[in-house]
Amino acid sequence: MEITWLGHSGIKLQGSKTVYIDPFLTDNPVASVTCDEISDADVVVVTHYHGDHLGDSFAICKKTGATLVGIHELAVDGEAEGITTEGMNIGGTVETRGVKIHMVQALHSAEKGDPAGVVIEMDGKTIYHAGDTGLTYDMKLIGEFFNPDLSFIPIGDRYTMGVPSAAKAVEFIQTKKVIPVHYNTFPFISADPEEFKKRVGDKAEVIILKPGESYTL
Ligand code: NI
Ligand code: MN
Repeated sequence: MEITWLGHSGIKLQGSKTVYIDPFLTDNPVASVTCDEISDADVVVVTHYHGDHLGDSFAICKKTGATLVGIHELAVDGEAEGITTEGMNIGGTVETRGVKIHMVQALHSAEKGDPAGVVIEMDGKTIYHAGDTGLTYDMKLIGEFFNPDLSFIPIGDRYTMGVPSAAKAVEFIQTKKVIPVHYNTFPFISADPEEFKKRVGDKAEVIILKPGESYTL
């Protein structure tokens, strides 16, 4: 599976299916693609109802016919715009187009519905996207229950975990590999991914990408 960081929290998973997570592209100063450049998607997963995560999700679903997966309140709004949706809530699992999505807790806020993290299973790999969240002891449960191969963890501070708490989260999640996200998009969420890597140490393999770069899992 090819994994591309689109900048901020935006991720593209290219396996047997094409999955976008939190595709915030328009008005994102570090976005590696524009919404216009996207012509193919099967599933678009949104962690929570904030502009920097919902982003271009509705537009991508409209132009590609992708299924939108998000918390109930967000799915209702998507459906009102004529999009195919799979509404869900924390604790639940949805399988759509051969992709399995589990919704897990996140400590944050949202305009509508609750914020969430997601665990995605595709092509035999398990990937956790923490969304926006503070450090929570329940991350131990995510690790124990889902045993992620790869996790996306926010490190930009102010609105989410910063470097020290994000490094602690990696310990809780027991993820094999981790890609830091949600930093250096804007000056007020600046963070040093090398400092994160240093703090994580041998607890996980830290993969530092630049927006637009890919990693093969
Ligand atoms: Ni947020
Ligand atoms: Mn955010």
